[in-house]
Amino acid sequence: MRVTIHDVQAMKERGELIPMLTAYDYTSARIVEAAGVPLVLVGDSLGVVVLGYDSTLPVTMDDMVHHIRPVVRGAPSAHIVADMPFMSFQSDVKEAMRNAGRLMQEGGAHSVKIEGGARVAGTVKRMVESGIPVMGHVGFTPQSAHQLGYRAQGKSAETAAVVVEDALALQEAGGYAIVLELVPAEVAQIVTERLSIPTIGIGAGPHCGGQVLVLHDLLGLYTDRDYKHSRRFANLADDGIAAVSRYVDEVRKGSFPNDRESLSMNGEKLEELKTRLAGSENG
Ligand code: KIV
Repeated sequence: MRVTIHDVQAMKERGELIPMLTAYDYTSARIVEAAGVPLVLVGDSLGVVVLGYDSTLPVTMDDMVHHIRPVVRGAPSAHIVADMPFMSFQSDVKEAMRNAGRLMQEGGAHSVKIEGGARVAGTVKRMVESGIPVMGHVGFTPQSAHQLGYRAQGKSAETAAVVVEDALALQEAGGYAIVLELVPAEVAQIVTERLSIPTIGIGAGPHCGGQVLVLHDLLGLYTDRDYKHSRRFANLADDGIAAVSRYVDEVRKGSFPNDRESLSMNGEKLEELKTRLAGSENG
C-alpha cells in the first residue's frame, strides 16, 4: 500500500518525525524504498546532482516527467512528490494546473511541490480544489537564488515573520506539508508549532516535523558538495573511485577476469571445434 498524504498527516498527529529523501531514477528509488523512506521527492535538484547543471533553473517539465516515472516504479510503497520546475507554475494558474497535471498523469507522481509562499497561495488553492495534493516550500527557495542569493532566510525579526506568514498562507490554501529550507532553527520551531500540517526541514534545525536531504549528499556521492546543514552518512564517491581504480588496474594487469569469472567450453566440444577448424583449413 502506498503512503498517502493522510498517512503523512497521521504521522504528524502521532508526533512521528518524517524522513523524506530525494530520488531521481530506478536505482536510487530502490535504495530509498528498501530503507523504508515514506516520502520520496523527485526534486529539481536533479538538474545539479544528476544532469550536471550549476543550478535547478534549466530543469524542464520533460526532464521531470522522465525522471519521475522510474522513481514511481522503483519505490512502490512510498508517496512520490514531484517538484514543479522553474517557470512551470509562475506565469499563470492555468499553466500551473496543466503542468501539475502532467507530473501526475504522465509521470505518475502522487503530489507536487511548489516553491514560494503567499505569492503562490492562490495557485496552490486552485490545485488543491482540483484534487492535486500540494507540498509548499518556503525560506530559501533555490529557483529564486539569483534574487535571494545563496543564503539563509528569516534571520531578522522582519524576514522571519515573512517566513511564518508564507507558511500559514500555504496551509490556508490547502497545502498538506511545507518544506522549510535554510531558516534558523528557532524560526522553524515557531512555524512548526503554529501549523497543523507537518513541516519538513532542510537546514532548518531539529524542531521540524520531518527532515529532507538530497540523496547524493547523504550518500557522499560528491566530494565537492559539503554543506553545514547536511550530513554524509556514507562516502560513496570515495568508495566508487577506489573500486573503479581497482578494476582499471586489474584489467591492465590481465587479472580480471580470472578463471572463475570466465565461461568455459566442455573439453570434448573444444576438441571437436579444433578438428572442424583444422578440416576447414585443409580443405
Ligand atoms: O529539489 C530538491 O531536492 C528540493 C529539496 C532540497 C527540498 O527541493
